Amino acid sequence: MAAPLLEVRHLRVEFPGRRGTLRALDDISFGIAPGEILGVVGESGAGKSLTGAAIIGLLEPPGRIAGGEIRLAGQRIDNLPPEAMRALRGRHIGAIFQDPLTSLNPLYTVGRQLTETIRTHLPVDAAEARRRAIALLQETGIPAAEQRLAQYPHQFSGGMRQRVVIALALAAEPRLIVADEPTTALDVSIQAQIIALLQRLCRERGAAVMLVTHDMGVIAEACDRVAVLYAGRMAEIGPVADVIHRPRHPYTVGLMGAIPAMDEDRERLLQIDGAMPRLGAIPPGCAFHPRCPQALARCRSERPELLEAGANQATRAACWLVAP
Ligand SMILES: Nc1ncnc2c1ncn2[C@@H]1O[C@H](COP(=O)(O)OP(=O)(O)OP(=O)(O)O)[C@@H](O)[C@H]1O
Ligand code: SF4
Ligand SMILES: [Mg+2]
Repeated sequence: MAAPLLEVRHLRVEFPGRRGTLRALDDISFGIAPGEILGVVGESGAGKSLTGAAIIGLLEPPGRIAGGEIRLAGQRIDNLPPEAMRALRGRHIGAIFQDPLTSLNPLYTVGRQLTETIRTHLPVDAAEARRRAIALLQETGIPAAEQRLAQYPHQFSGGMRQRVVIALALAAEPRLIVADEPTTALDVSIQAQIIALLQRLCRERGAAVMLVTHDMGVIAEACDRVAVLYAGRMAEIGPVADVIHRPRHPYTVGLMGAIPAMDEDRERLLQIDGAMPRLGAIPPGCAFHPRCPQALARCRSERPELLEAGANQATRAACWLVAP
C-alpha cells in the first residue's frame, strides 16, 4: 500500500472547562493513503466530527489538540499558525460538510466563488479559472454548467448545491478531502449519486478521503477501510469487507446490526442496550464494558490498546477478546 498521505497519531482533543477538562478524543491513530476512502462511523457523539475538525484545523475554542500529531505528506500540520493552516486548508485540504450552505457565500455567484478559489490557490489567469470552473461543475454532474456560473447558491436545489460544494472543495486540487456526512441533508435518491461522485473523484485524482457517515450502506459501497469510534476512542479499524463481515470489537458487531447477520452467533449480539457515556463519565478500562455482552473481568479496569486481529493482521481492534 502507498505511504499514507494523512497520518493521525495518538490524537487527543480536550475541552477545558470550569469543572475540569473533558477529553473528547483520546489516542486516535490512523492513516489514509492517496486514492483511498476511509469511512468513519460511530454513534452520535463518538467524536467523528471532532476528528475531522482537528485535521482541518477548525476545532472551535475552547476545544484544542492536547496531544499527538497530524501529518500531511509527512509535514506536521497540527501546530501550524492559523494563517498557514488557512492557506493549507484552501490549497491542500478540501472540506465538505452536511449543510452545503455553510460552505457557500449567498452573496456571490457560484462562478465567482469557484474562480476566486481557483485563482487564490493556482497560478492561472481569469480565462483559465473560468474554464476550470465550468469543467468542475461538469465533472460534478451539474447540467448547463456554463449558464449556472452566473447563478447564486439559492438558485440551486439541495443536491445541486452539494455538488457545487464538492466542486468548490476540489477547485484547488486538494490532496485530502474531509467530508462530514456530506449527504445526510439530501434526498435518498441524490445521496448515492453524490457518494459515487466523491468516489470517482477520489480514484481519478488520487485524493485521500475521510468520509464520516452514519450509513453502513455507504461504508460498504464506497469505502476502502473503515474506522469505528466509540466515546472518543478508536474501537476498530480495518478493510471494509473485513470489518463488515468479521467485526472483532463487540461494539462494531452491534453497529453492523443493520446488515443481515451471517450466522446465528452474530444474531444474538445485534442488540446493544444502553447509551454511549457522556464525556465526563467515561468508565475506566474499556469504555464499552458496561454495554458489552462479552465483557471480561479485566475489561473494567484495564484499557485495551488497538491490537492486530484477523488473518492478514490488517484489522486492529481495541478489545481484550483479540489479545493473544
Ligand atoms: N464545544 C464543545 N464543548 C464540549 N464538548 C463538545 C463540544 N463540541 C463537541 N463536544 C463533545 O465532543 C463529543 C464528540 O462530538 P462530535 O461532534 O465529534 O460527535 P459526532 O461523532 O460527530 O456525532 P454526530 O454523529 O452526532 O455528528 C461529544 O460528546 C460532544 O458533546
Ligand atoms: S475489551 Fe472487554 S468490554 Fe471492551 S469490547 Fe472487548 S470484551 Fe467488551
Ligand atoms: Mg458529527
